[in-house]
Order: sequence, then structure tokens, then C-alpha cells
Amino acid sequence: MKLSAILISCCLPLVFQACQRKATESPEAPKNQPVTLTFLRGQGAGSEYFFRSLIARFEKGHPGIRVRVETLPWQTDRQHQIYSDHLRAQGVAFDVMSLDVIWIAEFAQAGWLRDLDNLLSQEEKKNFLPVAIRACTYRDRLYAVPWFTDAGVLYYRKDLLEKYGTPVPETWEELVRTAAKILKKEENPHLQGFLWQGKRYEGLVCNALEYVWSMDNRLQDEQGRWSLDGSRAVRSLQFMADLIRKAKVSPELVAAADEEMARQIFQNGGAVFMRNWPYAIFPLESEDSSVRGKVGIASLPRFSRGESVSTLGGWNLGVNRFSRHPKEAFQFIRYMTSPSVQREMLEGTGSLPTRFRLYREPKMLRRYPHLARMEEILARARPRPVTSRYPEVSETLQQEISAVLADLKSPKEAVVEIERKLPPLLK
Ligand code: GLC
Repeated sequence: MKLSAILISCCLPLVFQACQRKATESPEAPKNQPVTLTFLRGQGAGSEYFFRSLIARFEKGHPGIRVRVETLPWQTDRQHQIYSDHLRAQGVAFDVMSLDVIWIAEFAQAGWLRDLDNLLSQEEKKNFLPVAIRACTYRDRLYAVPWFTDAGVLYYRKDLLEKYGTPVPETWEELVRTAAKILKKEENPHLQGFLWQGKRYEGLVCNALEYVWSMDNRLQDEQGRWSLDGSRAVRSLQFMADLIRKAKVSPELVAAADEEMARQIFQNGGAVFMRNWPYAIFPLESEDSSVRGKVGIASLPRFSRGESVSTLGGWNLGVNRFSRHPKEAFQFIRYMTSPSVQREMLEGTGSLPTRFRLYREPKMLRRYPHLARMEEILARARPRPVTSRYPEVSETLQQEISAVLADLKSPKEAVVEIERKLPPLLK
């Protein structure tokens, strides 16, 4: 095991303890001893206390199982590094993992995930949003169970739009006009027009694809063949760069912003619009938020030719192929993806359920009116390319698009490179 690599990338006490465990434990846990499962999740909304109380209830109902929860850094790229280093070495430091939708194909192909197809019957699968089940499926087998789902949304300041009598923008062009108008009238040098995620990391790919798709464009057709319209892609990238340099409705710092940076500025009252994931509404509506009660959520805008399309995100629970406790891990996953836990996750973290019935329960809709809109947005959300070579796809897009935002390359040059490098990776 490359212990040093894991410690450097992770620096978490859990890995150290777990690696020690690998050295001393026998392959099978002794009978009649409680089994301890280690569950890894990325840091996100929701307190430690909230997760502990969820786990405590599971443990009460399953006296033979203890669960240790460990929290990884919240950035998906960093989590990916930790998991892949560890799984490549067939490590057993964890049993249940929270997996980003974009990793399923890669991890399944590498043989790092237990096949969970027998865990859910065909009937049970139908209780989940179809997009979420598809995201957990690789070569017709289920490798994870959808835990919570994500799609890019537009946050806007209701109070500011009302003050200037402007509607929620439906097109990107309208968003620019509205943001510019409000910035001019407000005369507040600390107010920004539109925040999004332009830092060189996975979030940039999610943002950029939304500008590509919403101009009636796509990387692949239904059969998976390369079908990007290059000139439209150039216009989409140009639009992103122009938000910063020409229209100046987005500050230069968006080129270094991730979800949390954008969310914090918006939460301090620092912007009119923000692109982010649904979790953000939870902190934005918290007691210490400056914008509490002033925030609306809408579909992302579209270009005048095109429709609103969000990138599909989301997290799923899978089992480490090398875990010595798959049976207990399955029980835990069943519990964590149950309707009651998904309801609590929405209340305790703002995460969106993957079971579609929860979007229609009158009690839930009364408490979370944005659920109805989210169901529609999710129905139009698109997955990033599904391939076991996704890390290379993402790396190429990140490199090219961030060069455009940094003004090191023209959109045309970037698209030429994308058209050269991506098709072979998607075959
Ligand atoms: C969110 C999404 C995930 C995406 C990530 C990018 O966590 O759920 O799918 O990869 O953001 O930052």
C-alpha cells in the first residue's frame, strides 16, 4: 500500500488508523463481535451532529454493526485523489463511500466497486429518479445507490429584482442586461453582478457545459458519436470570458472561484446572481445569512436559441470491492438511501432526494416549495460524458477553458484542442 501517498493527499487520522487496521486484522472479522464499518463522505452542508444522530439510529436498529463516519475535504477532485490512491492499492480503510456521479464508470471499470445490482430489484429501482439510477449504472449493472442529487441552478436576489421591477432572466443575454442595470443603479462598489465557478477544477467543467448545452449544442449524440458544433462552442466560451472582461458583470475572481467561495460572497450580500448547486439554499437561509428571506431559485438561463440545461451532479453510495464487510455495508446503504433518511437529509443538509415521490409529498412541498421546480430542472439535467476515462476528459476541458478565462488562449484555439483531444477519449 502506498501509505505515504495517501497520508500526503489526505492527512486524515482515519487513514492512518485504518492502515494500521489492515496490518493487524484477520481477513474475516471474528464471529459475534460487532462489525465496525467505516463510511467516508465529503464535507458538505449539515453538521457532524446531524450525521451522528442519523448513524446512531442505524446502530440502534442493527446492534451488531457500528459505523465510523469520516469526513473528506469537500472538493470532488481531492476526494477522487484519496479514493483512487487507496483503491488502487486494494486498501480496506473504508467500506462505504460516497461517490460523485462522474466516478462510477471509472471505478466500476477498475474493479473497485461491488456490483450492487442484486441489492435493488427492478421494482425498487423505479422509486428513484431515472437520471440518478442511470448515473449509478455501468454496462447495465448497478454499482452504487443514489444518495442525493444535484443540478446547477440560478440563485437571485428577490429584493433587488423587485426593487428595479425586473423579472428573473430567462436568457443569458437578459441576465447580463439585468445585472448591469442593477449594478449601475445600486452604485455599490462591493456588489457583483453574477458569480459562478471558474476555477480550474471539476466545477468549471460543470459550468462550461451548461453554456455549451444551452446553445443547442452537445458533445455526443444519442449513439455516443462526437457531435460538437465547433462554432457554437466557440461562442459559448466567448460568452463566459466576456462575462468577466467585456460585460464586466462577473468579477475577475470568478476565474478562481469554486462553489463555496461564490456562496460566501453571495451570502454576505455581495452579488445579484449566482450559479450554484441546490445545497447552497441551506446556508443562504441560515440565521446568520445576510440574504436570508431574500433569495430565489430558478432554472439556469439559456441562449436565445436553446433551452435551459443544468449539469447533473449528485452523490451515490457504493461499497469498496475489498471491504471485508459487504453484507453490513449493504444494510447501511439501504438505510442511508431510505425515504425517511432522504427526508431528513433535505431538512438537515439541503441535499435533494433521489426518490421521486418525495418531490410530490404535500408536506414536503409546503416546507420546501423549491422542490417542485427542482424536479423539473432535474428532468432536463444532463450528465457529463459517461466514460471510464472521465478524469482525462475533465482534465482536457479544465485546461482549455481555464486558459480562455485567463486570456491565454482564444476560444477558437481552445475548441480546436478540445475537438482534437476529446473524441478519442469518448470512444
Ligand atoms: C457537486 C456535484 C458533483 C460535481 C461537483 C463539482 O458536488 O454534485 O457532481 O462533480 O459539485 O464541484
